[in-house]
Amino acid sequence: MKILAIETSCDETGISIIDAQGSIESGVSFALLANTLASQAELHSKYGGVYPTLAKREHIKALPILLEQALQEAGTQKEPLGITTIDAIAVTHGPGLEPALWTGITFAQELSQRWGIPIVPVNHMEGHIFSTLLESKDSKNYKLKNINYPAVALLISGGHTEMVLIKKSFDYQYLGGTVDDAVGEAFDKVARMLGLGYPGGPLISKLAQEARELKLPDAKVALPRPMIKSGDLNFSFSGLKTAVLYHIKKGYEDDHILTIDEQRIIAREFEDACADVLSSKTLEAMQEYHAETLIIGGGVAANSYINTSISQSLSILENNIDILTPYKGLSGDNALMIAIAGYLRAQRQEYAKNPNNIKAQGTLKL
Ligand code: KG4
Ligand code: ZN
Repeated sequence: MKILAIETSCDETGISIIDAQGSIESGVSFALLANTLASQAELHSKYGGVYPTLAKREHIKALPILLEQALQEAGTQKEPLGITTIDAIAVTHGPGLEPALWTGITFAQELSQRWGIPIVPVNHMEGHIFSTLLESKDSKNYKLKNINYPAVALLISGGHTEMVLIKKSFDYQYLGGTVDDAVGEAFDKVARMLGLGYPGGPLISKLAQEARELKLPDAKVALPRPMIKSGDLNFSFSGLKTAVLYHIKKGYEDDHILTIDEQRIIAREFEDACADVLSSKTLEAMQEYHAETLIIGGGVAANSYINTSISQSLSILENNIDILTPYKGLSGDNALMIAIAGYLRAQRQEYAKNPNNIKAQGTLKL
């Protein structure tokens, strides 16, 4: 079954095509026919975050170009793949920035109407979950791993920080999440305070790693570990970000420009604070729900320091936990993860009854 997937929930435009077979029960495999992505990160960098109207405009520009590119990639040397060979269109309908989501939905609706192809609406967060289950046979052929349940998914990105219990396939229960900023957002804001670019996560993480390698001294003030002992599975990252600002303002003279080592020390302390809170809450969730698998998905799952801290904190558990992180290059937003989720939802016949009724849902839950 050929799925054409469209992702426009934030600042990446993606169109991918897969040819998939099998079911969760019997095992899913697929050929990746095309995987296109246009990132707007550079455009948004001067705002230190994603600017929704700009994101919308860029998605509208990129979608037809990526469609053509994807059909070319999926076709032969002689001719592009014919759009009429597509069995279903998978499109992200939430959560995300509504103006951005609408561009993908409208584009999918137009294709559906013109070519008579059904649409499966996909939850972006489910895409992040499935992106961790990939196993590659080679760069074009993949299968999905079977996992043991219950599983806990820690979904950490620029827009989300949440913990979800997966009792069995497609059966989700929200366990907790951030009460204010997402962890990726905090990385981006701290990067901005330090005068770095956007997205901030990889930049902060690189500085933090250098501070560790150079064995730089501790930060002047230890940052808080917000809500670490709150007794629930909620998070808060807004205070942590403010604490960094306070630290920069109070720790140095007014016109002081931070040296690279001072930046490294702050970055390390900030990353440690995030890693401590995420590790501690994940351990609590795994213990409470006797989970056998941990899924770490979303853009921040590219952070190997955080992943290693979490894995170390789980080592006190008696049972062997499988920890799944996204396949290389798939931690950030992409349309391949939407294609996989779309295929599995299509298998369950979860097509939109009337494609024109699909709506962007900024706060869609799993
Ligand atoms: O999932 P994603 O691509 O988009 C959203 O759905 O939000 O996540 C993007 C976020 C950004 O905030 C970015 O700074 C963060 O993921 N990120 C990282 C790293 N790589 C990306 N955060 C920490 N460490 C990283 N290595
Ligand atoms: Zn995402």
